Amino acid sequence: MTYVVKDECIKCKYMDCVEVCPVDCFYEGANMLVIHPDECIDCGVCEPECPIDAIVPDTEDDKDGKWLEINTKYAEIWPNITIMGEPPKDAEEFEEETGKFEKYFDPAPGKGDP
Ligand code: SF4
Ligand code: F3S
Repeated sequence: MTYVVKDECIKCKYMDCVEVCPVDCFYEGANMLVIHPDECIDCGVCEPECPIDAIVPDTEDDKDGKWLEINTKYAEIWPNITIMGEPPKDAEEFEEETGKFEKYFDPAPGKGDP
């Protein structure tokens, strides 16, 4: 088991999660973060930190494994992030939106830690 970042994070990317992870296993894409499943120790500390509930245990809300696959793939490609940066200015506008992966997912890497 691991925790995974899901659809909700896309275009919101609040980053409260990165500050609390004891093993620094978040990785940054252009408009979302992912968790490295092999590094996550399942402590669960990040889950309540996300203001829009984008983080879940993969056993709970990812039964088909879609998000585990995305987190696994992009954690290998994107840079590590451990320090909270500036969330997108229009993040609030995308909080309630659904189907964000299909509409906005960006495979480009983020900047990672400064
Ligand atoms: Fe980090 Fe714990 Fe969240 Fe895993 S569950 S990503 S180890 S804070
Ligand atoms: Fe994303 Fe929530 Fe972290 S919006 S960046 S998973 S705090």
